[in-house]
Amino acid sequence: MSNDPSQHEPLFDSFGRRHTSLRLSVTDRCNIRCFYCMPAKEVRFLPRSEILSFEEIERFVRVTAAMGVSRVRITGGEPLVRSELPTLVGKLAAVSGVEEVALTTNGMLLDEHAAPLREAGLDRLNISLDTLDAAKFEQMTRRQGLDRVLAGIDAAQHAGFTRIRLNALAIRHQTEDEVVPMVEFAIERGLQMRFIEFMPLDADAQWTDDQVLTGERIREIIEQSLGRLEPLERSDPSQPAVDYRFVEGRGTVGFINPVSEPFCGACDRLRLTAEGQVRNCLFSTTEADARKLIRSGGTDEEIFQLVRECIAAKKPGHGIDNEAFLRPQRAMYQIGG
Ligand code: 5AD
Ligand code: SF4
Repeated sequence: MSNDPSQHEPLFDSFGRRHTSLRLSVTDRCNIRCFYCMPAKEVRFLPRSEILSFEEIERFVRVTAAMGVSRVRITGGEPLVRSELPTLVGKLAAVSGVEEVALTTNGMLLDEHAAPLREAGLDRLNISLDTLDAAKFEQMTRRQGLDRVLAGIDAAQHAGFTRIRLNALAIRHQTEDEVVPMVEFAIERGLQMRFIEFMPLDADAQWTDDQVLTGERIREIIEQSLGRLEPLERSDPSQPAVDYRFVEGRGTVGFINPVSEPFCGACDRLRLTAEGQVRNCLFSTTEADARKLIRSGGTDEEIFQLVRECIAAKKPGHGIDNEAFLRPQRAMYQIGG
């Protein structure tokens, strides 16, 4: 069977959404413990044998690329705790049909890895950082490390990454004071600031809807201190963020509002967990076992079929605000952000 991208039907779900973007988790491990993601203690990580090898991941990407998946974002856990990650980046960048390889990282290890990642062909970087205050950082991540993240940002810029995004999780009664300093920092450093609403994906299951600091509220906070914002035209309808620019002065700010303004209708994403389970949504309660297929000698055709069926069963939306909403069994670090 050929893997020429043109030879396979694109991946449509039953609502006509075409899937072209893959979130690939390479580990469930992490070097910090953000309270909105990981449990405070007794984190149980997957044994190494359950995690897909680079060759298995590459095979999955080759097969989905043949169905029109052209963008791959590597996530975790923290992807940089997986050794030799640049090797994987190089393999994925070389897959026929893959146009962009991106990485979401907490930045703790970026100082060391930014240059090799760039050389391996990584196109884009998202760095997660919620605060510029060291004590707040420690409180939110249950670890020290703000200095390391800042060094990581420096290294990424020196390595030649452009359009770097800074993703900050926004939590009501907790991060209001972080908003303005983060925006100022991003503008000064030429980073693209994005605020993300807190979703019910924390391992401790403490999420409540009154902890959601909405994008709209963040925009008010920014406008009060830094001046009026106006929306930018959306260049890519499937991208979750709504971007604004300052009416006077430079800089843009984006808002990802999955809770207050769900964007499921334009979703083009599928996910592969570190242990090879295909998910059609962050909030899926079911998964398709690609690892079993791959490890039992499954053919490319069988993998196509598995992914197609998984996407065909995708629901119209996450339904967080619905009475019948069920949290997924997994927390964010076990899915891939
Ligand atoms: N809600 C929203 N975003 C989350 N992330 C982790 N946990 C949550 C949550 N409960 C984000 C991190 C990081 C990305 C990988 O996922 O802030 O930016
Ligand atoms: Fe680690 Fe990311 Fe989860 Fe924070 S959000 S604990 S950085 S996996």
